Amino acid sequence: MKVAVLQFSPVFGQIEVNLTKVEDYISKEIFDLIVLPELFTTGYLFTSQKEVKSLAEKIPEGFTTKELSRVARKKDAFIVAGLAEREGENFYNSAILVGPEGFIGRYRKVHLFNEEKFWFTPGNLEFPVFNIEIARLGIMICFDWIFPEATRILALKGAELICHPANLILPFCQKAMVTRSIENRIICITANRTGIERRGTQKELKFTGASQIVNTEGRILLRLSQEETIGTVNVDPASSRNKHLTDHNDLFIDRRPELYSLLTHQPSSLNGA
Ligand code: ACM
Repeated sequence: MKVAVLQFSPVFGQIEVNLTKVEDYISKEIFDLIVLPELFTTGYLFTSQKEVKSLAEKIPEGFTTKELSRVARKKDAFIVAGLAEREGENFYNSAILVGPEGFIGRYRKVHLFNEEKFWFTPGNLEFPVFNIEIARLGIMICFDWIFPEATRILALKGAELICHPANLILPFCQKAMVTRSIENRIICITANRTGIERRGTQKELKFTGASQIVNTEGRILLRLSQEETIGTVNVDPASSRNKHLTDHNDLFIDRRPELYSLLTHQPSSLNGA
């Protein structure tokens, strides 16, 4: 299975410009699945709720879902991409999966990062796994990486590949996703964005690029630079089905969930006092 990541720097608020750029990049490549960054149509640094409201789209009725479905049909391939979603008066930092037959499903980011909490509602759809015949895909978005529960749940639900649209600012995620791959024996595809975003008078963020694809043994099969670029590698989704680490260790069978109950509720004291 040929998988790709596209890393680029969207122009804030220019949905059509960003979609055209993505289509130009994609048209030159051959792949079965491509992952695009978080919020790839809008950019990241919102400065008001009014802005979020004007740029967020309905899924699947909105422009971006329709356009990406058209591209997926043309390429006969699957696309995972992050975008701002509007549902009624709620806004989500979401990702969609589309394929040659159109819209397949969505994920709404569960763990919001920093000021995203001003603009978005935390995701309410748990962690979905989609069976697209060539592989079982789990989706999580950017800051979900720091909560190992997200990848673990997707892996326990049978995901073979994690599609991970991102807009990373901190320097830790690329290393951490190697561990997520090893501890779950799962393939992880992180599609990060690049560039610097400046909004208003003070705000500026630099995104870390270095999008990557990691195999079930934590080997980095592909790591991009800081440039706008696209990368592809072959992966074997079936390799994620084998959770054996040694003759006497299976990463899932050896779990001790009866001793993990603290993970499923918030303790009354969060600092252990
Ligand atoms: C992030 O979650 N966009 C850092």
